[in-house]
Amino acid sequence: MPKITKIIARQILDSRATPTIETKVTLDNGIEGIDSVPSGASTGKDEALELRDNNPAVYMGKSVLNAVNNVNNIIAPRLIGADVENQQEIDKLLIDLDGTPNKGKLGANSILSVSMSTVRAAATTNNLPLYKYIRDIAERMVIKLSPLSVPIPLFNVINGGKHGAGNLNIQEFMIIPASNKTYHEALQIGVEIYHKLKETLIFRNAVASVGDEGGFAPNLSTNIDALEAIAEAIRNSNYRLGVDVFLGLDLAASVFLKNGRYQLIDRAQAYSPDEFIEYLTILQDEYKMLLFEDPFGEEEWDTWVKFTSKLGDKVFVVGDDLLVTNPKKLDQAIKTHACNSILVKLNQIGTFTQTLEVVKNALAAGFKNIVSHRSGETTDTFVSDLAVGLSADYVKFGAPARGERVVKYNRLLEIEEELSQKS
Ligand code: PGA
Ligand code: ZN
Repeated sequence: MPKITKIIARQILDSRATPTIETKVTLDNGIEGIDSVPSGASTGKDEALELRDNNPAVYMGKSVLNAVNNVNNIIAPRLIGADVENQQEIDKLLIDLDGTPNKGKLGANSILSVSMSTVRAAATTNNLPLYKYIRDIAERMVIKLSPLSVPIPLFNVINGGKHGAGNLNIQEFMIIPASNKTYHEALQIGVEIYHKLKETLIFRNAVASVGDEGGFAPNLSTNIDALEAIAEAIRNSNYRLGVDVFLGLDLAASVFLKNGRYQLIDRAQAYSPDEFIEYLTILQDEYKMLLFEDPFGEEEWDTWVKFTSKLGDKVFVVGDDLLVTNPKKLDQAIKTHACNSILVKLNQIGTFTQTLEVVKNALAAGFKNIVSHRSGETTDTFVSDLAVGLSADYVKFGAPARGERVVKYNRLLEIEEELSQKS
C-alpha cells in the first residue's frame, strides 16, 4: 500500500503566458506523479473557482501563489501518509477540506493539481499506463464503458470569439473525421486539411496567424466565410465533406447573446432565438454539421430543448458552458432533454473522482462524452489518458499545432500503438 510522503506545488506558466499550478506527489517508494492544470477563457459561470491572487502588481493579478500555498501548507499536511491508491478517499478529503460548493476556499486549481498527480503516481506505482489505471478505477465505479480504443479528435481549425485575434463571433470551427477511421488516419486527415486551410486563407488575403488553440484566427466578412474556407480546403484535399469528414461548431453563444438576441457579424440585425435555431438548421444541412456545442446562452434552457428536439437525432448537441461538468446541471439536461452530449473538463468540477461520477451519469443517460482540454493549456497529457481510459466518443484538443496541443495528440499516437500491440 504505497503512501504519500511529500506534496509540493509550484507556479508555472500556461500557453497564454498566464501562471498556473503544477503539483508533484511523492510516494514512500520514491515514485512521483506530476501534473499541472489548464485554464479557460470562455468559462461557464458555474464552473468551480480558479483561485488567483488578484494583485494587479503581480502578473496582472493572475498569479496563483495562494493556490500554491494552499497545496503546500493546507492540503499536503492532511494527505501525508494517505494510501495513494484510494483516490475516492483522497478526493473526498480535498472536497471536505475546502468545504464550499464551488471549491472557492482552496481553489479548484490547487485541488485538481493534487487530485491528478495522485492518480498519476498511483498508476506508476502499479506499473500501469495512466489510461489503464483510470479505466480500472472507472470499472470499479461501475461506469458503463465501451471497449478500449483511441477516440476520434474534433480539430478546431479556426479560432474566433475569445480565442482568436480576428473578428469571427463563433469560437471554434471544427473538422471531424468520420468515425470509421482509426485514430492515426483521423490525425492525418486533420493535419492535411489544416495545411490546405492555411493556403486557402492566404489565397483569400485573410491573415493565417493562429489563435489560442492553434487554429487560424482570420479576419473575414462573415462566420459563413469561415465555413466556406474550410469547405474549400476540404475540396482541395483528398477528402470529401459529408463522407470522410464532417464539420462542427463550438459557438460559445453566451458571448454574443445580447438582450435575448444573438448578434453575429453576418447580419446587422440580431437573431431572435427562433431565428437562430433556423440559422443553425440551415448550416447543418449545407455544411454537413455533425456537432453544435453551446449553440445558445447557458441560461437559455428552453431554446436548447427546442433545438435538441428538432435536430438532436441528427447532430451532437454538446453542453459545455451549459453543463460545466456538474452533476446537478447534467441532471437538469437529462430530465429536460436540453442536449445529448457532454463536454468533460476536469477543472470545471475540480477533482478526478467527481469528473468520473459525472461521466457515469452522462453515459447512463445515453449521452456522448467528449473529453476536452482548455484554451489555456500546459504540456500535460493527463486528458489524453483520461479520454482513452473512459472510452470517450471524441476528444477536443484544439488544432494539430502548438506544442501544448500536439503533445496530447502525440500521446494518443503512443497509446494507439500500445493498444495495437496488445491486441
Ligand atoms: P475555454 O474554451 O477553455 O476557453 O473555456 C474551450 C471551450 O469552450 O470548449
Ligand atoms: Zn466550449
